[in-house]
Amino acid sequence: MSGDLYVHGYHPRENDRLQDQAGTLVELLHSDTIYPDGSSVLEAGCGVGAQTVVLAQRSPGARFTSVDISADSIAEARRRVEGAGLTNVEFLQADVFALPFTTESFDHAFVCFFLEHLSQPARALAILNSMLRPGGSITAIEGDHGSTYFHPDSPAAHAAIECLVELQRRAGGNALIGRQLYPLMLGAGFDAVRVSPRMVYVDSSRPDLVDGFTRRTFTAMIEGVREPAIAAGLIEPDIFDAGVRDLHRTTETDGVFCYTFFKGVGGKGDVALSLQRPEPPTIQAALAPHRHLHR
Ligand SMILES: C[S@@+](CC[C@H](N)C(=O)[O-])C[C@H]1O[C@@H](n2cnc3c(N)ncnc32)[C@H](O)[C@@H]1O
Repeated sequence: MSGDLYVHGYHPRENDRLQDQAGTLVELLHSDTIYPDGSSVLEAGCGVGAQTVVLAQRSPGARFTSVDISADSIAEARRRVEGAGLTNVEFLQADVFALPFTTESFDHAFVCFFLEHLSQPARALAILNSMLRPGGSITAIEGDHGSTYFHPDSPAAHAAIECLVELQRRAGGNALIGRQLYPLMLGAGFDAVRVSPRMVYVDSSRPDLVDGFTRRTFTAMIEGVREPAIAAGLIEPDIFDAGVRDLHRTTETDGVFCYTFFKGVGGKGDVALSLQRPEPPTIQAALAPHRHLHR
């Protein structure tokens, strides 16, 4: 067993939050991930299957093996995948640090919101590398809570977010891991590593994102650590509650909320990663006016 604590816990409300998160972010995070027919994909830390359903739907000819350390999460993931009518996923309860597979037995590996919860993310990536056949690839998607900013700004909201960062650190994880994906993947021996930032920008012209991301994904995640943060003496209850109120305040008509995910893709050996090369829309959007300025 890895011995790491999982900061978000396994409550039904948290399962719904992971589901809301996955549904809201499908295009942003998954639009450039398609696995070839006949290929085998190892998904580590699949949780309740929120990403698994999306992956398996988008690559119906690929075979997925999805593992998680939690038997309850695996049972829920299996229910969701069966409920979606998918037959290309096998589930297994397993610790990423003690995988019951022989080396070089998968074509691809996938992790999402997983490395951030491990005290040894570099070791986990190296193990996943060893599971890949030469020519294989890994895709890793992680958040970075330090990338959060919003309007109206609020010191109390930042303090509440910082509670989650600190609790996750104390549990052995790293809520700021997105910015470290590149060095971590290189260090684990992956080749041709490319990391692309995926920014979620939310204002009231996008009510789907206001509800699905700002309210039900991010703010719900912060609300979920109220009791442990107060019990650990990290914050006074009234400051925490004011912070959550201020996060909700960003969902009003004049409010704005920004967060950046990081998606890394790497290969094992000499690989053309054309199928998985991230082409982030945010970067293109940022470059367009820049080119214009210099014309
Ligand atoms: C935030 S959830 C992410 C779940 C899913 N990937 C998603 O994006 O919805 C992290 C998952 O990692 C699992 N996990 C933590 N440590 C693990 C380990 N050592 N081996 C396998 N799974 C682990 C937890 O049980 C939890 O389900």
